[in-house]
Amino acid sequence: MSQRWSRKKSRLPLAGLLFMLVVTIMIRYYERSIQQIHNEHNLLEASSSFNFVKPNVPGNKLEVLDRFSRCNATREYSGKKIGWVDPYEDPGQRTEIEKCDVFSGKWVFDHSSYPLHMESQCPYMSDQLACQKHGRLDLDYQHWRWQPHACNLKRWNVTEMWEKLRGKRLMFVGDSLNRGQWISMVCLLQSVIPPDKQSMSPNAHLTIFRAENYNATVEFLWAPLLVESNSDDPVNHRLAERIIRPDSVLKHASKWQHADILIFNTYLWWRQDPVKLRWSSEEKGSCEEVKGAEGMEMAMNAWADWITNNVDPNSKRVFFVTMSPTHQLSREWNPGSKGNCYGEKNPIEEESYWGSGSDISTMKMVKGVLDRLGPKVSVLNITQLSEYRKDGHPSVYRKFWEPLNQDRLNNPASYSDCTHWCVPGVPDVWNQLLFHFL
Ligand SMILES: *[C@@H]1O[C@H](CO)[C@@H](O)[C@H](O)[C@H]1NC(C)=O
Ligand SMILES: *[C@@H]1O[C@H](CO)[C@@H](O)[C@H](O)[C@H]1NC(C)=O
Ligand SMILES: *[C@@H]1O[C@H](CO)[C@@H](O)[C@H](O)[C@H]1NC(C)=O
Ligand SMILES: *[C@@H]1O[C@H](CO)[C@@H](O)[C@H](O)[C@H]1NC(C)=O
Repeated sequence: MSQRWSRKKSRLPLAGLLFMLVVTIMIRYYERSIQQIHNEHNLLEASSSFNFVKPNVPGNKLEVLDRFSRCNATREYSGKKIGWVDPYEDPGQRTEIEKCDVFSGKWVFDHSSYPLHMESQCPYMSDQLACQKHGRLDLDYQHWRWQPHACNLKRWNVTEMWEKLRGKRLMFVGDSLNRGQWISMVCLLQSVIPPDKQSMSPNAHLTIFRAENYNATVEFLWAPLLVESNSDDPVNHRLAERIIRPDSVLKHASKWQHADILIFNTYLWWRQDPVKLRWSSEEKGSCEEVKGAEGMEMAMNAWADWITNNVDPNSKRVFFVTMSPTHQLSREWNPGSKGNCYGEKNPIEEESYWGSGSDISTMKMVKGVLDRLGPKVSVLNITQLSEYRKDGHPSVYRKFWEPLNQDRLNNPASYSDCTHWCVPGVPDVWNQLLFHFL
């Protein structure tokens, strides 16, 4: 695929250059007029709001945050918050697609119809998620079906899914959990596309799976904190010091704005305190500091402001995936024990089980934001159903990037991954829920 491209390119150098020049000028002009509109908008807002800032488009002069960005002074948090109002209408109630709550149910062992795809048959599998390839022998984790209490989930049908995606861009935006869901989706979908009609772009900020015969793409945009941050490179980022521009989603929004179906998530990157804020008005590398949860609320508000102003639910579908649970402490489901998810082979059966990894006040905040957005966003509330799946994580059955010393190897729980999910597995069911609502 890449070879074909480069051959074509070299055949029309001058026309290509001219075209690029015109496009560059057009983009510049477009950016400038957007900037003007926003400046006017900000002026209008300023008179009516107190201590609330509107998310804005940073000017070209602003330093782009990356892994080298530092705060050279950290001040106390001034209390500035991101505010947004829907300029058009009261969002009203989210229309319930059906009366049944599909997120309330139980896991049923189903050896005949699950898994929905085979790990070894997906050329795009990630070594972080391919548990079977990395030596996991107990494979029951692939065979659980989610059964809502009051109804049935739509059966996964790959042809029907492709028909829904025909001529469209489906884009996942978020962190590595969301990337796992994207890989699950690509693996669920790719098997019916002839090899010469499918392609995957190299891993980057935006990575694109293409199916030519449906003129459709399934894409992943790395944006773990939703707003612009120093962690926006999918490979070279630092979790240790997170610096965000709480008032700017535009760097990412420019990439996601033309997608037809958008799936967002964010949560785990906010679990560590503190988060540094670099407001767009700060030129001197000076930051403020807040707790992770406060940072997440600001980011959600900046995101919600974009949704409010840019999403027409009749032409664009937007989903938000709630927090993905971790299983770090086995004493939470097995009192007295000392491990984590390592060695777990079965789901938790206790109805409504909820572990300490899923923060309830964060869920309330998210619910508040999503309720205000009304029909513009649908919720994929995967938290409770995934809470049951202590058996679904890779634990030691994945590739680890750093070498492991003998001490750790002797104690598998010490390096177990109890955060991500094996594929095939739990993320396939998240995608089945998405399919159910599309
Ligand atoms: C899957 O969907 C296609 C297209 O909508 C339909 O023709 C086919 O019968 C479905 N298959 C099953 C097993 O339901
Ligand atoms: C393919 O889809 C894009 C939208 O993603 C659309 O603009 C274009 O016209 C489509 N092309 C064909 C040949 O249908
Ligand atoms: C802080 O860092 C920025 C670059 O991030 C630099 O331009 C600025 O001069 C620095 N300010 C001070 C007071 O050192
Ligand atoms: C998701 O479901 C839980 C119950 O499992 C509920 O408490 C929470 O409010 C829901 N979250 C959203 C955003 O709807």
